[in-house]
Amino acid sequence: MSPAAKLRTAGPGDGAAIAALHLASQRAAYRGIVPAELIEHPDLAERTRDWEETLLAAAGPTFLLEDGGRLIGFCYARPSPDADLDSHITAEISNLHVSPTRRGRGHGSVLFATARRWAEGRFRDLTLWVLQENRPARDFYEKLGMAPDGAARTYHGSDVRVIRYRLTLSPPSDTHPLK
Ligand SMILES: CC(C)(COP(=O)(O)OP(=O)(O)OC[C@H]1O[C@@H](n2cnc3c(N)ncnc32)[C@H](O)[C@@H]1OP(=O)(O)O)[C@@H](O)C(=O)NCCC(=O)NCCS
Repeated sequence: MSPAAKLRTAGPGDGAAIAALHLASQRAAYRGIVPAELIEHPDLAERTRDWEETLLAAAGPTFLLEDGGRLIGFCYARPSPDADLDSHITAEISNLHVSPTRRGRGHGSVLFATARRWAEGRFRDLTLWVLQENRPARDFYEKLGMAPDGAARTYHGSDVRVIRYRLTLSPPSDTHPLK
């Protein structure tokens, strides 16, 4: 990872930078997997509004990695909203994206480890949803110890398949500071 990269938790006002990186990352990584209209829409203004709402509602933290004040990656973690899971037991990484020009340099690993540390001591399991055909991301998660748990759904009304990955977290110790 770039030694200058700095980690912080997002707050209201960070939505525009997150939305811009989110759209750029999806357009680069999902092209050819997801129908073009789904990755070209919503636009930046709409995505910025969505992110500002997410940051205000603060169901969980959004971790930002910045280099020279510029956002190079982010990760949003929260209690799982999945109907078949208990949100008190299972956390979810809802989004993890590194700028397309900054991939493969350890930034994603740092963001994942940060979200994992947040979840440990609060939850038993960590899940996330990934496009079945997004092999690079699946390889990345598998390296980090995650594995498909058998759940599947489709991506925003298309017939593109999304699968759920899961990791059992370390049990909290009695002395864990977050207990
Ligand atoms: C997936 C993603 C978050 C990984 O972040 P990153 O900063 O590129 O990954 P890192 O540099 O931390 O890589 C960590 C490990 O995963 C491996 N890895 C990363 N990208 C990989 C790829 N495209 N193919 C295979 N392995 C990969 C690296 O080789 C590395 O292994 P190593 O430590 O043994 O060298 C990032 O590439 C990304 O934003 N992708 C596009 C968006 C996306 O698909 N997000 C996931 C949505 S569910």
